[in-house]
This record gives sequence, C-alpha cells and structure tokens, in this order.
Amino acid sequence: MPAVKPVHVAHAEFQTDGPALCTTHVPSLGPIPSFRALVVVVGLLEIKMSTVLVTGGSGFVGSHCILALLAKGHTVKTTVRRASRESDVRAMLAEGGAEPGDRLSFTLADLERDDGWPEAVSGCDYVLHVASPFPPAAPDHEDELIVPAREGALRVLRASRDAGVRRVVLTSSFAAVGYGHAPRSTPFDETDWTDPDSDEVRAYVKSKTLAEKAAWDFVDREGGSLELSVVNPVGVLGPVLAPDYATSILMVQRLMDGDMPGCPRLYFGIVDVRDVADLHLRAMTDPAAKGERFIAIAGEAMSMAEVAKVLKERLGEAAKRVPTRQLPNWVVRLASLRDPTIRQFSSELGKKRNATNEKARRVLGWEPRSSADAIAATGESLVRLGLLKGR
Ligand SMILES: NC(=O)c1ccc[n+]([C@@H]2O[C@H](COP(=O)([O-])OP(=O)(O)OC[C@H]3O[C@@H](n4cnc5c(N)ncnc54)[C@H](OP(=O)(O)O)[C@@H]3O)[C@@H](O)[C@H]2O)c1
Repeated sequence: MPAVKPVHVAHAEFQTDGPALCTTHVPSLGPIPSFRALVVVVGLLEIKMSTVLVTGGSGFVGSHCILALLAKGHTVKTTVRRASRESDVRAMLAEGGAEPGDRLSFTLADLERDDGWPEAVSGCDYVLHVASPFPPAAPDHEDELIVPAREGALRVLRASRDAGVRRVVLTSSFAAVGYGHAPRSTPFDETDWTDPDSDEVRAYVKSKTLAEKAAWDFVDREGGSLELSVVNPVGVLGPVLAPDYATSILMVQRLMDGDMPGCPRLYFGIVDVRDVADLHLRAMTDPAAKGERFIAIAGEAMSMAEVAKVLKERLGEAAKRVPTRQLPNWVVRLASLRDPTIRQFSSELGKKRNATNEKARRVLGWEPRSSADAIAATGESLVRLGLLKGR
C-alpha cells in the first residue's frame, strides 16, 4: 500500500495522495466522487471566498495587491487614512480594470493610532500589511518613519492575532536585507539582514529593518496561532494607476521628463508591482511560506544608464528626453547639496547590490517578468495617464 502523503490546500491539511479514505462505489451508479476530491474542492472554494485586508490600499503596491485579490475572487477590505481616499482608490482600481463594488470595503486607520485596526481586521482570513511611509526625501528625524513602520506593524499583528486571522503577509523590503554590509559580489538572500546600526543606513532602510525584526519577534513571543510571511521587494516599478505614484517611480518619471542631465552611477534591483502582488498572494496561502521571507527581484541589478537604455529602446519618441550618458560622481554629489531626493542616494553611488529570487521561484513557483518589461510598463503608464511634463 503506498504511503499516504499529506498535501496542503490553503490553511488545512488534506490527504490527497495514496488510497482514498472514503471512496464509495455503488455498482448501479458507478463511482461517487471520493471524500478526498470533495475536500479538495471545498478547500479551493474556501481559498476563493477568503476575506483579505490590505493595509494602505491607496498606495502603489497596495492597490495592485487589491487588484490581484479581486481577480482571484476574494473579498477585500482595505485601510485608508482619510475617507476622501476611497474614491481615489476606486479610481485606481478602475484604471487597473476592476470595478469591485461591495466586494471592497474601507476602514479608516492610521499606523500611528490604535483605533480602526480591530474593525479593519474583523472577519478577515488573511492580512496583507503593505502600508508604511515611503517618502521621496529623508525626514527631519528618523522616528518619523521608524515609529509608524514598527509600531504600525505591531498594531496590525496584534489586532490580527486577537481577531483570529490565519496569516499576515508583511511587505518588508530589500532595505531590510542588503544594507550596512561590506561590499560583496555574491547576491544577497533571505538569510541576510541589514545592520540598522551601520552609518550608511538611512531612515527608510532602518524603518523597514526594525519593523520586520519587530514583526518576527512579536510572532515568536506572543503571536499565538497567527502565522507570518514576509515579502522583501527591491525597487518596485510597473503600471502606475494614479498621479500620486510611489517614490520608486520617480526615477523613471525624472528620466522621461529630462530632469536629469545624465545618469548617476546608481544601481537598482527591479521588480514589477504585478509580480510583487502575485508573490504576496502566494505567500498568503502556501503552507510552505509560513515563517519565511521572500526576496522579490526580477533579475540582476541594473544601472540607471541601463534603465535609460531600456526606456529609449522600448518607448521610442516618448523617451526622447531620457539621457543616456553617465554622470561623474562629483557632479551628483554637488547636485545633492540642493536636492534632498538626490541627497538620499548619494552615498549609494557606485554600489551594486545583487539579490537572488531563487527561494521565491523554488518554494512558491513565482515567475516574475523581466526588469525591462517592468521598466517599459512604468514608462507606458506615465505616458497613458498624462503624468509627464508637457505631455
Ligand atoms: N515602491 C518600492 O520600491 C518598494 C520597495 C520595497 C518595499 N516597498 C514597501 O511597499 C509598501 C508600499 O509602498 P509603495 O511603494 O506602494 O508606496 P506608496 O505608494 O507611498 O504607499 C504607501 C502606503 O502606506 C500608507 N501609509 C503611509 N503612512 C501611513 C500611516 N501612518 N498610516 C496608515 N497608512 C500609511 C500610504 O497611505 P496614504 O495614501 O494615506 O499616504 C499608502 O497607502 C511599503 O511598505 C514600502 O516600504 C516599496
């Protein structure tokens, strides 16, 4: 008799291999669907009918997570900080091709306040905790980012545990993986952690590192049966859905607007936002994702000049203002004196950090599109939405 293998469907374990546990055969009627087949079907229906909270639905990654969940048949709740954001989010989703109606509901909640979170997580099977501050310029004080990132993650986890949520997927970042280390040629993987005490670590990087550490610590110590999975994306590009796009889009927008005389020697890992959303959904239901972090990167890190070249090749006339020459580091350092956005990145000049997506591919079957496709989709959406200067 073959061994009975447990196979995981959604959150539960079912016997799906080896002998059927409860097959019935009535001679006159032929075989009746086995118990195990029914269980699998019920399990699949249950996945489809899950209710999922996405925190920060007004953001770039959050809105694409909502789109991916709706496309899979889930009911979605989301949090926003102001009631007026509901119409913005619905407009973003319409831009992405979805009209969810009452399959999407909104709760007001701020990462820096306790109220709203119990209502937000109530009735949810899963939570994608995406919201976290990601401003284009460094704040006056690092706590402006660290406090909402870390305390906000703890508020979401505490409320999720108390409400009996099965699993939280936390949107962390490569920022929590690859900074504060000596230069190295080997790619970073999920065993690496940023050193938050290193001098090269800026406020945003520190906020993501401390928030992720606090989340793992919380689940270990007082999470009860709550499960945690973490996604660590590199720079997220892809289709923009609204004029207030994420900080990561600024590079492509500035290149296409001709705002930069040339390309600083900066290197980026790139991933498409649709693949980041897809990885969140895989991490949400796959039993193998429990207690694991997954780096989301499409391929090799690219220089800004390589990004510019892709825009030129893929967008033609729309990319006519994109510069392709490299800027010497001293020119960029000079410009950073008066531009806080550039200042944030000047310590990164010449540093290339590669990372591997091997774990997400192997464990979760994740297959991201190429960096070039993500770059082109970003540029095309900026053109389509009329978000470039004079166009
Ligand atoms: N974009 C990237 O390259 C990248 C890379 C790695 C990781 N990430 C992570 O992905 C997540 C989403 O980022 P994004 O790129 O989508 O940026 P985004 O478009 O700026 O979205 C940030 C979201 O967080 C919300 N938020 C910020 N502070 C909040 C607070 N105090 N209370 C409640 N909500 C708050 C924002 O709400 P409002 O609309 O009200 O401001 C917005 O919905 C973040 O955790 C970020 O660290 C992004």
